[in-house]
Amino acid sequence: MGGDDMGQKRGGDLPLFLDERTDLRSYRRKIKEKNGATRKNHKNFSRLSSLVSRLFSIFVATMSEAINNVKQAFDAELAQTDLTNQEAVNNLRVKYLGKKGAVTDLMKQMGTLSAEERPAYGKLVNELKVAVSEAIDKAIETANQAALQKKLESGFVDTTLPGAGIPAGSTHPLYDVREEIIDFFSQMGFEVDFGRDIETDWYNFEALNTPPDHPSRDMQDTFYVDDKVMLRTHTSGTQIHYMETHKPPFRMIAPGHVFRVDNDATHAPMFQQCEGLVVDENISFADLKGVLQVFMNKLFGEGVKTRFRPSFFPFTEPSAEMDVSCVFCGGKGCRRCKGTGWMEIGGCGSVDPNVFKNCGIDSEKYTGFAFGFGLDRIAMLRHAIPEIGLLTSNDQRFLSQF
Ligand code: DAH
Repeated sequence: MGGDDMGQKRGGDLPLFLDERTDLRSYRRKIKEKNGATRKNHKNFSRLSSLVSRLFSIFVATMSEAINNVKQAFDAELAQTDLTNQEAVNNLRVKYLGKKGAVTDLMKQMGTLSAEERPAYGKLVNELKVAVSEAIDKAIETANQAALQKKLESGFVDTTLPGAGIPAGSTHPLYDVREEIIDFFSQMGFEVDFGRDIETDWYNFEALNTPPDHPSRDMQDTFYVDDKVMLRTHTSGTQIHYMETHKPPFRMIAPGHVFRVDNDATHAPMFQQCEGLVVDENISFADLKGVLQVFMNKLFGEGVKTRFRPSFFPFTEPSAEMDVSCVFCGGKGCRRCKGTGWMEIGGCGSVDPNVFKNCGIDSEKYTGFAFGFGLDRIAMLRHAIPEIGLLTSNDQRFLSQF
């Protein structure tokens, strides 16, 4: 901005520089008049602003008086209130902090104030609110304590009040299947032998006609404790223990955990199986089919069909894989049975004479059948469980459905 402009602005109609044409006297007079007017303006302005600030301080004083009055009234009432009386304390709270309470009313005034007035007023009213709230909280706590004390002193315990409640649990779906199987076979005269989780090579493989180099061992990747001791890969070893200690005729089942180095949606490193063994004179494959058909009807319902596909297990001859008609589509073919209408349940067969020989049983006199199937698989089919891992993940969301 140039000096000329500034001069022009400040002096109004006065020329900034004197020249020969300017009448010095009139110039001085004009300056005098001008200064007089400016002084007068200044005076008026400062009078006005002091008036405004006086008004503002009157406003603040009035407001702080109103706020103080509420605070004093509250303090007085609090002092009069019986602090052991929960209802009285609550009434006090409502009177000051409730929707139509005195403090709430003062807070509402904020909306009617100008932007200049609001900060000073807001500060005061906020301090009031904090002070009253703190005092009320303290009073509520005192009243609650007093009420509790009164109850305890009166020695009255209301035994009719409902307790916290313990949610009822339910049995695990695997446990249910196992109990049902034990129930079923017990009624048919089968004894139950739980066997042991750790087996030697002899019981888990060799006595079951599976020598060290037998290819069928490869199908059961195994957790070894040492060269000759392992977590059992199937419940079939219990057959051997049982035959060593019992004389035919007998019928037994052996449910229990088994372990394999397996892990995907339908295979887990630990799962449960149930073995079955019947030895007597004249036991045939027809007996096996009959028993398993009735058993499948028990598990999956009257309409379910069975089929036996030729297979191989070292400890049975002949061996078969047993399927049931798909429990989801009834055999028509669906996504779950991969369109075949059948589902695999387990292996079975007539006891191999070599196994009898290993256990000191006369294979000329006795014949028998054996079977083994997975309990997890049965539970999964019954409840349409998509992943075997869910059965052992201990997840409440899953378990509470049974
Ligand atoms: N042990 C076999 C397995 O885990 C199942 C099995 C098949 C058991 C045939 C048997 C049987 O008793 O006769 O795959």
